[in-house]
Amino acid sequence: MTIYNSILETIGNTPMIKLNKFDTGPCELFIKLESQNPAGSIKDRIAVVMIDKAEKEGKLKPGDTIIEATAGNTGLGLGLVAAQKGYKLILVIPDKMSPDKIRHIRAMGVDVRLTRSDVQKGHPEYYQDFAARLEKEIPNSYWIDQFSNPNNPLTHEISTGPEILEQMEGKIDAMVVGVGSSGTVTGLGRFFKKSAPQCEMILADPEGSILVEMIETGVMPKATGWLVEGIGEDFVPSICDLSLITKGYTIPDREAFQIQRKLLQKEGIMAGSSTGTLLAASLRYCREQTRPKRVVTLAGDTGNKYLSKSFNDSWLADQGLLTREEFGDLRDIIARPADTGDIVTVTPSDNLVTTYKRMRMFDVSQLPVLEDGKVVGLIDESDILLGIYKDELKFEKEVSEVMVTELEIIDPSASIDSILPLFKKDKVAIVADNDTFYGLITQIDLINHLRKAAL
Ligand SMILES: Cc1ncc(COP(=O)(O)O)c(C=O)c1O
Repeated sequence: MTIYNSILETIGNTPMIKLNKFDTGPCELFIKLESQNPAGSIKDRIAVVMIDKAEKEGKLKPGDTIIEATAGNTGLGLGLVAAQKGYKLILVIPDKMSPDKIRHIRAMGVDVRLTRSDVQKGHPEYYQDFAARLEKEIPNSYWIDQFSNPNNPLTHEISTGPEILEQMEGKIDAMVVGVGSSGTVTGLGRFFKKSAPQCEMILADPEGSILVEMIETGVMPKATGWLVEGIGEDFVPSICDLSLITKGYTIPDREAFQIQRKLLQKEGIMAGSSTGTLLAASLRYCREQTRPKRVVTLAGDTGNKYLSKSFNDSWLADQGLLTREEFGDLRDIIARPADTGDIVTVTPSDNLVTTYKRMRMFDVSQLPVLEDGKVVGLIDESDILLGIYKDELKFEKEVSEVMVTELEIIDPSASIDSILPLFKKDKVAIVADNDTFYGLITQIDLINHLRKAAL
């Protein structure tokens, strides 16, 4: 057992696991757990090498500011290394990224600038254009730019690739990867071309990304959106060598999220959403083969970053990615149906501290009050505030003392039109009939429902 001198020494040398519980046709499938790096992703590796090389090339001096445009993981890796080496760090992050990742980055003391995810290269709010602008404005700053930094692919050529080949004892027929900055595919592709030329490079690309079509037709289509984080592109980075890729698979978000969940349930590996895309493509590749092959893929990051997103059924349902039983009435709009156990409630005898804590924990501003499965009231932030104002001891008050009991109960068979007047009065719709409480409909639930219907 080793004692390390710094957390940075624990980057790399990640485990390789053989997957046994998936149908891999005639092939053997292995997954390298880049999720085990200290900041939780494959990007820790490039952070160390890019900063090291920038110091050696004289681009970074003590006290300088590092700038990067990142979907999150590179930011975490840079956060780790920058803090150990005493650099300031500013990260520009598109707003579709997991809040858990952003919290982690902020907790590291990084200066985070959130920007829009719905704009393309060339727009001033596009995350890379934003970073380029900051570098011009801030003295002694260095935009590390993983998308054009040759030390990004070099990292995988000198560390990830040799590790994989050693773990596979030289026997590897295919490597399945995704492309974000393309450092992984370019670096591993170069390494295997030299050291294991039989190894095919296979691309796993989210539906909506441009890369598979680019490889197949040479023509760049227009990117549409996708939800998987870390991979998929709307342009071809300058460090990207697409000629190294033999074949690409386009994977819909729905399939990626289902397989991400299965990987945890079947093999006990909690990996991020991109791993769902990579594993889906790996399984398709393996099952298409007619002779046994040894295939390797990556768990690019840990699933702990996605507890509020792809590991959250309500989020999946909001994105239209989880098929729930449909009733053809108002019950289809309820985001957290009472019968799934997803709903958060209180009872009349709970106190206001409990209610307040539950609201904070689940990030909601009102709760239904249930007694014997029936709604007897509703309590929101203003009820708590008025209940405790000027006397904090009143937090011990019971919910029954402050809850609203004049309820507007809506039958599930009512029309959407009939709930709109409630929203005008800033109320929520309580959907119930004589016997059963089905759940609440808030304004955002209805917006989500209409958005899904419009897609
Ligand atoms: C979470 C995550 N981020 C990024 C990547 C791709 O990395 P790169 O930026 O090197 O293309 C992967 C590849 O599998 C990944 O899983």
